[in-house]
Amino acid sequence: MAKKIAIIGGGNLGASIAEGLLQSEFSRPVELSITRRNLSQLGRFAEQGCMVHSDNRKAVKASEVIILAVKPYNYAAILQDIKTELDPKKHILVSVITGAWIEQLQKAIGKPVPVIRAMPNTAIAIQQSMTCLAHAGASATQLSYIQDLFGQLGRTVIIDEKLMDAATVLGACGTAYAMRYIRANIQGGIEIGFDAATASLIAAQTVKGAAELLLQKGTHPEQEIDKVTTPKGCTIAGLNEMEHQGFSSSLIRGLVASYKKIEG
Ligand SMILES: NC(=O)c1ccc[n+]([C@@H]2O[C@H](COP(=O)([O-])OP(=O)(O)OC[C@H]3O[C@@H](n4cnc5c(N)ncnc54)[C@H](OP(=O)(O)O)[C@@H]3O)[C@@H](O)[C@H]2O)c1
Repeated sequence: MAKKIAIIGGGNLGASIAEGLLQSEFSRPVELSITRRNLSQLGRFAEQGCMVHSDNRKAVKASEVIILAVKPYNYAAILQDIKTELDPKKHILVSVITGAWIEQLQKAIGKPVPVIRAMPNTAIAIQQSMTCLAHAGASATQLSYIQDLFGQLGRTVIIDEKLMDAATVLGACGTAYAMRYIRANIQGGIEIGFDAATASLIAAQTVKGAAELLLQKGTHPEQEIDKVTTPKGCTIAGLNEMEHQGFSSSLIRGLVASYKKIEG
C-alpha cells in the first residue's frame, strides 16, 4: 500500500532517495514531500509535482513515513520542532544519520514512534546501494514496507543495531575501499599497455562482473577464483605475489582500523 513519504533534508542522500523512489515508481510525485532550507537545488522535484518546501512540520503532517536525512548536528533541533506532529499510530521514522542511535532518537521524540535506522552507501544515487537496516518498535508490516522502499534503491539486510558501526565500515566505507582497488588496477593496466580510459572501463566492468557472479550465483569468492587459476598459470602467480605482499592482510587491517576509529 502506497504511503506518503517526507524526506527531511533533501541533500545528497535525501535527493538520491527521492530520485530512486520516483524512478522506480515506488512513489508518485504527489506522495513525496522533500524539505530543505535552500530550495534552489530541489527545482527538478517541484517540477515533477513533489511537495518541496522548508516547513518540516507541514511535511510530517502530510506524511506517514518520515525519512530524516540531515547531518548529525542538525537532527536534534529538527526533532524538537517536529515532535509535536509525530504520532506513534501514524508515523514511522527512518533515520539515515550516521552515529545517531535509535534510543537517542526516541528520547528526543519522547513518544513511542517506531524508529528504523538505515545505513545506505553512495551507490544509492544509481539505485545500487547496500542498505543495512535496524529497528526498534516497528511491526513486521512496517519493517517489510521499509525494506521494500530501500529495496527500490539496491539491496537490503536487517541487522542488530549494535552492528551499525560495522555496517558503516563494510557497507559505506567499503565503497571507498573498492574504489582504491579499482584505481590500483587502472594504474597497473596503464603500466601494461592500456590508455587510462580503456583501463578504467576494463577495471570497473571486471569488478562489477565479479561482484555480480557472487550475488547472482551465491558462490564463495574462492570457488570463482578456482575457475580462473590454471595450474602454473599467470593468475595464481599474480594472486600469490599479491598475498606475499600482504594483500588480504592489509585490507583486513584497514577495515579494522576504520572500525576502531568509528568506535572512538
Ligand atoms: N552520503 C552518504 O553516502 C551517506 C551514507 C550513509 C549515511 N549518511 C548520512 O546521511 C545524512 C545526510 O548526508 P548527506 O551527505 O546527504 O548530507 P547533505 O548533502 O548535507 O544533506 C543534508 C541536507 O539537510 C538539509 N537541512 C539542514 N537543516 C535542515 C532543516 N532544518 N530542515 C530541512 N533540511 C535541512 C540541508 O539543506 P539546507 O542547508 O538547504 O537546509 C542539506 O541539503 C548524514 O547524517 C550522513 O551521516 C550519508
